[in-house]
Amino acid sequence: EKGPYPHYMLKEIDEQPVVIRKVISKYQDAAGELVIDSEIRACMKKADRIYIIACGTSYHAGLAGKQLIERIADIPVETHIASEFLYNRPILSPNPFFIFISQSGETADIRGVLVDIKQMGHSSLTITNVPGSTLSREATYTLLTHAGPEIAVASTKAYTAQIAVLAILAFDSARAKGIQIDVNPAHELSIAANAMEIMINHKEVMEEIVWQYLNDSHNCFFIGRGVDYYACLEGALKLKEISYIQAEGFPGGELKHGTIALIEEGTPVIALLTQAQVRANIRSNVQEVKARGAHVCMISIEGIAEKEDHVILPAVHEWLTPLVSVIPFQLIAYYAALYRGCDIDKPRNLAKSVTVE
Ligand code: F6R
Repeated sequence: EKGPYPHYMLKEIDEQPVVIRKVISKYQDAAGELVIDSEIRACMKKADRIYIIACGTSYHAGLAGKQLIERIADIPVETHIASEFLYNRPILSPNPFFIFISQSGETADIRGVLVDIKQMGHSSLTITNVPGSTLSREATYTLLTHAGPEIAVASTKAYTAQIAVLAILAFDSARAKGIQIDVNPAHELSIAANAMEIMINHKEVMEEIVWQYLNDSHNCFFIGRGVDYYACLEGALKLKEISYIQAEGFPGGELKHGTIALIEEGTPVIALLTQAQVRANIRSNVQEVKARGAHVCMISIEGIAEKEDHVILPAVHEWLTPLVSVIPFQLIAYYAALYRGCDIDKPRNLAKSVTVE
C-alpha cells in the first residue's frame, strides 16, 4: 500500500534507512556480530576469484560489491553483465565462486549464466529480495535482502539492501580469512542508515537542484571516480528510465578523451566526490567542464566537502558511501520525472521483472 505517498517510488526511497536497519538485524547473531551462513563463508574463503553476475541496477550494486569484497576481504572480484557473460566469458580461475544479484530472482539473462556454470559443476549464491524465486531455488545458496516488496519499476531500496548484504558478506569473509578489520561493521552500517535518513529528510535540496539544473535539459552527465563512478552509472540509469532525460555516468578522467565534446553552455553535470583519494582529480574535472560552459552540481561528503558544494552527504565510512550517495540521485530522478509529468512507477517500455533473454 502506498499510504499517503503519491508514488511507490517515493515510498520505497523513504523506506531505505529502515530496510538497512532490518538487514543489520537479520544478519546479527546473538552476540550482535554480523554473520553469514557458514557454508557460504567456506565458499568465499576457498574462492580464488569471485564472479558477480547481474543486470541493470543490480549490476551496479554488483560493481559496488566488487569494491567492498576486494577492499575489505582482499578477494579478486569481477562483475559482469549477465547477458554478455555467455559469449564474452572471461577465462575462469581454478576456484571460482559465483554470486548472482537479482531483486526479482527471475531475470532470464542471469538464469542463462546460472544454468551454464552449474553444468560446469560450480557452486553459486543468489542474493535476492524474493524468497523461493527461480534464481534462489536453482543456486546452491541464497542470501535475502529483506527489502520488502518493491513495486515501483525503478529499483531503489532493493539496490541499497543488496549493497548492505554485500558489505556484510565482505566483512564476514574478511573475518574468516583472519583479516583484521578495525571497525565494527554493524555500527558503521547503522551510521550509513542514519546518513541516508538525513538525506531523505532534506528532499527540498534535491527538488531545488532539479529546478536549477534539469528544468529544460535534454541530457545530463554524472561524473565520479572509483566507487563514485559506479554510483554515477546508477544515477544516470535512474534519471533515464523514469524522466527520459538522456543521461550518462562517466569516469571523471575519461571525459577529456572524447565525450567532453558534448559539453556546451548550460549542459548539466552532476559531480560526485566521496573518496578523499580522488578529491583533487574530480575537482579539476569539474573545472574542465565548467570552462566549457557546463552547469555543475557538486555532491560531496563531510570531511572533504567545500562550502560552496551543492549537496553535502553526512560522513560515513569510506567503504559504505555508495549506500548514501545514491539517495540524492534517486530523488533527483524522482523530481525530474515528476516535473515532466512522467508515469513514475510504470515508466514506458519497462517491466519489473524481465523474464525474456
Ligand atoms: C532499474 C531496474 C532494472 C533491474 C534489472 C534487473 O531501476 O530496476 O535495471 O535492476 O532489470 O532486475 P533484477 O534485479 O530483478 O534481476
